[in-house]
Amino acid sequence: MKTLIIANWKMNPISLSEAKRIFNAIEKGAKKFNKEKEVVICPPAIYLFSLAKKQIKLGGQNTFYEDTGAFTGETSPAMLKESKCQYVIVGHSERRGYFNETDEIVNKKIKSVIAKKMTPILCVGETSKEREQGKTKEVLKRQVLAALKTVSVQKVKESGLCVAYEPIWAIGTGNACPTTEAQTIGILLQKIISQKYSRPISENMRFLYGGSVNSKNAKEFIEEAKFQGLLIGGASLKPTEFTRIIRTV
Ligand code: 13P
Repeated sequence: MKTLIIANWKMNPISLSEAKRIFNAIEKGAKKFNKEKEVVICPPAIYLFSLAKKQIKLGGQNTFYEDTGAFTGETSPAMLKESKCQYVIVGHSERRGYFNETDEIVNKKIKSVIAKKMTPILCVGETSKEREQGKTKEVLKRQVLAALKTVSVQKVKESGLCVAYEPIWAIGTGNACPTTEAQTIGILLQKIISQKYSRPISENMRFLYGGSVNSKNAKEFIEEAKFQGLLIGGASLKPTEFTRIIRTV
C-alpha cells in the first residue's frame, strides 16, 4: 500500500500563475519518490483544467452530488472527472462548518464520487469542545457511519475510499494532534470500518491524518500513529516544505 500524501490548497493561491509555479515545483520535488508514495494535489476547482496535463494526480476539494442541472455555483462529479480528478475530498470540516454540510449531504456526495469512479477522501473530526467533553469517539462514529450509509462493501473496495481524521482543533493552528491520541483514533476508525464492513476491508483501507502537519511531525503520524497517509493544508503551498514531508514519510 503506497503512502498517500494529499495537498489541500483550500482557497489558495490567488493566481493561476502562482498555482502553476507551486505545482511545478512540487512535481519536480516529488518525482524521485513516486514509486513508494502517491502524491495528490487538490487545487481550487477553477485551476484544475490548467494543471491536468501534469504528472501529479489531481483531486477536487469538494463536489456537488448531481452531475448536471440548475445548481448555480456548484461543480459536479462529472466535471471533476472530466478535469482528470482521481480523488475528491468530501465532508471537510470547513465545508461542514461554513457551508452547513450535513452528514446526509456528505453521504450523497460520497455516493456521487464513487459513481464516477473516483476515490472519495472522507473527512471526519471533532471540535475542541467535543474533545473536552469526551465525545470524540461518538462524533467520529456518527460521521463515518452516516457518510457510508447504504454504501456497499463492493463500492468501498472498488473506489479505494479513504478516511481522513482531521481534528478541527488541529487544523491551521500549529497544534497537531499528539501522536498517541492520533494512534488511538486511527485504531477506532479501523474498528468502525471493520464492524460495518469486514476486517480485510479495514485492513486494506488507507486512513489519513490531517491537521497542522509539517516536515517535523509528518513522520510520527505514519511511523508511530500508523496512518497510511496525510492530508496537508498550509504546508502544501510551500513546495520545499511539502517536498520535505514527502521525503520524510
Ligand atoms: P493544515 O495542514 O493547514 O492544518 O490544514 C489541514 C487540512 O484542513 C487539510 O485538509
